[in-house]
This record gives sequence, C-alpha cells and structure tokens, in this order.
Amino acid sequence: MSEVTFIVHPGGSFSGTVRVPGDKSISHRAVMLASLAEGQSEVRGFLTGEDCLSTMKAFRAMGVRIDQLAETHLRVHGVGLHGLREPAQALDLGNSGTSMRLMTGLLAAQNFPSTLIGDESLSRRPMRRIVDPLRQMGAQIETTARNTAPLRIQAAAGGLGGISYKSPVASAQVKSGILLAGLYAKGRTEVFEPEPSRDHTERMLRAFGVQVDAAPGRAAVVSGQALRASDVEVPADISSATFFMLGAAIVPGSELLLSDVGINPTRTGVIEILRRMGADIDLLNQRHFGGEPVADLRVRGRRLHGIDVDHVLVANAIDEFPAIFVAAACARGETVVTGAAELRVKESDRIQAMCDGLQALGISALAQPDGARITGGRMQGATVDSKGDHRIAMSFAVAALRAEQPIRILDCANVNTSFPGFADLAASAGLNIVVQG
Ligand code: S3P
Repeated sequence: MSEVTFIVHPGGSFSGTVRVPGDKSISHRAVMLASLAEGQSEVRGFLTGEDCLSTMKAFRAMGVRIDQLAETHLRVHGVGLHGLREPAQALDLGNSGTSMRLMTGLLAAQNFPSTLIGDESLSRRPMRRIVDPLRQMGAQIETTARNTAPLRIQAAAGGLGGISYKSPVASAQVKSGILLAGLYAKGRTEVFEPEPSRDHTERMLRAFGVQVDAAPGRAAVVSGQALRASDVEVPADISSATFFMLGAAIVPGSELLLSDVGINPTRTGVIEILRRMGADIDLLNQRHFGGEPVADLRVRGRRLHGIDVDHVLVANAIDEFPAIFVAAACARGETVVTGAAELRVKESDRIQAMCDGLQALGISALAQPDGARITGGRMQGATVDSKGDHRIAMSFAVAALRAEQPIRILDCANVNTSFPGFADLAASAGLNIVVQG
C-alpha cells in the first residue's frame, strides 16, 4: 500500500453544512441481505469505502450480480438464501473485521467450502469470538494456532443446529455472524450480550421480511424464513460525522451542521459523552430512513470539561473513542475511560496508539488496560503514527485545529476504508490539511 501522510496546520474552525458518506455497518449489511434476498434491491447512499467494497467484491465472487448505477447507488440481484456459489479463490476482506466476522457466520452455513483472508491488521484480530459459537452450532472452521485468519470453512455435514449463546463480549459483529448462521440452522438461534451492541442487523432483517425476536442485549431468529428484496437508504455514518462533531466542539465559536446522520440509539454514545463534557449538540429534523432513525446535527463550539466516561456508554460509542480522547485532550481537567478493553483489538490497539500520539503532542495521556486517563492541556505539534488505523488518523487530523504547530500523521492510506474523501471534505469545512503521497 502506498504511504500517505497528512500534514495538518493549526488553526481554522469548522463551519457550514457537511454530509459525510454512508454508514459503514449498514452498507455492509445492505449488500449481504440484498444478496440473500429474492428479487432486486436498490441501495442508495452506499459507502464506497474499501471495507464495504471488500464485501461487495466477495458477494460478486459468489455469483451475485451487483450493478453500480451511480457512485453510491447499487442494484443488487438477490440470489435467495440458497443461491450463493462457491468462490473460485479465497475471499480477501482487506481491513474489514465486519466483513470477516459476519461472513464467517454466513459461510459456515453454506454447502460449499470457502477461505477468508485479510490484510496484516485483520490477520491479527481475534476470531475465536465468532468461531467458538459457530463450532457449537456444528460449523467446520479452521483458524491459525493464534485463532486468527485465514479462516478455512468447510460445509458442515448435516448442516448447523440452532443454539442459545451467551456472548462474553458485547459485539455486533459476533451477534450478527451468529444470526446469519441462524437463518440456516435447525430451529431457533439466540444470542445474549453483556451490553447491548448496535442492532442494524436485527432492523434490516425485519425490513427484508424476517421475523426477529429482539430486545436490548438479546436477539433471536428461527430458520427457514426467506428474505424479500427491499430498498435501503443508508444514513450518513455517525462514526464519520464524529470527526466533524469533534472539530466543531473543540473550537469555541464554530457552528457546523451535519446532515442525514444515523442516530440509532445503539450508536449515539458519542453524542451523550460529548454533551456530558459540555458540548452543544442539537438533533434537528428527526426522521427515519427505513428502519433507521436519522437527524441533522447542529454542533456549536464551547469550552469542554473532563468527565469519568460512564462504562454503560462504551458499547454505544466504541468506534468513537479515538475522537473522544482528542476531546479529552482539549477539555479542562481529567477524563477517565474504563471498561473499554475492546479498544485494544480494533484495527489497531487504539488505547496505545492514541496515548502515544497524545503524549507526542505534549498531553498527559496514561494508557490503562481497559481505558485511559487524559488531562487536557496545550497541544504542541508533532509527528504521530496512526498505525494504519483510519480512525486514529482522522482524530489526530482534527486535533490540529487546537494544536500550536502542525501535526504530521503517518500511515493514513486506510482512511479510505471508511471515509473516502475525508481530507477534501474536512478542508472544505475549514481544516488546513495537506495530503502527501
Ligand atoms: C461493527 C461492530 C463493531 C464496530 C465495527 C463495526 C458492525 O465491532 O467496532 O466498526 O458493523 O457490526 P464489534 O462488533 O467487534 O464491537
């Protein structure tokens, strides 16, 4: 992969109206469920980031015709629950944990073998969390000795059986992978989670005509239900909007409007956390895109103050902690994050990567096993390493709004996994960003 460096000059502020690209979680699921449905579905607002393109390529490799009618507009010709074909080669899912964990569940239930591979980061990430429950359902999956990809999946002789599974982690990827397997497994498949995780799979399955028995922290399906084609309109991704929320929130005097942002309650932890830090965020024009709530977010800059982040908010803000760490660095006093050990097994070890970068900027940021203690202060300039993690890169880019000298951020090519066009959009809103490489 080519080296990409962001150089972001200090100063500036965000203003105007911004529409960030489509939601990553919903875009993956739209391709998956539309592929498994009977009939044609159209997807509008699809995220053309590399992660979702990996999912699209994988389904094409299994015989699904997907027409890209315009940049973000797809027509998916569903093949039905039993219409996928054996791929000719290993399916390369790049950097995408969501593709890998959800597709492991789906592919474990097919009557053909498949192999899932990924890039260096994805090949380090834990897969036992999805492989264990699927094996309990009868799946035949081989991993490396470290329980990582490549994953070699064989057709299970006699098919899968439903289970009632208590997941040790609050993970929508695990829950969703099991539910997809459950569409094929004999009888009922149920998942319980320690904290409720995002529920896009449950909502979208319903939109495709599947009965799902779900409540916060629990979801179940019964097999044998066909999926009916359904059009999907994808909201703007609250996780991508977060970098703009952050930028507006940390510069007093800014005012920014973010349009069409998904505000599914399992994703809005970041709004709650920033508000508790003193941020001024209004939800305007609340409405629905299909089964998903959306709103326009108005963010005004104010002085922020440090807080103890309530651990019950962690699952609902799990992808937003890199940005929350930057908010903490710009706030008065100390912010303490606990109960967030999952951050260590994301695209990078996000606790370490953020604390290293913040320290390089002159901020006191103490990494803890399950979180961090960050004391707000003056940010100098520095070179920071994003560790190839899109969200680390974008968080430090926005931090430059409050830095005293430029911030140089290394290894930023993976910003394209979730947010193609980030640098241009951020520049148009007021960030002084230059992209090298
Ligand atoms: C996702 C679930 C989350 C999140 C990831 C997307 C999904 O992961 O971090 O970016 O689309 O299901 P976990 O399920 O591992 O928490």
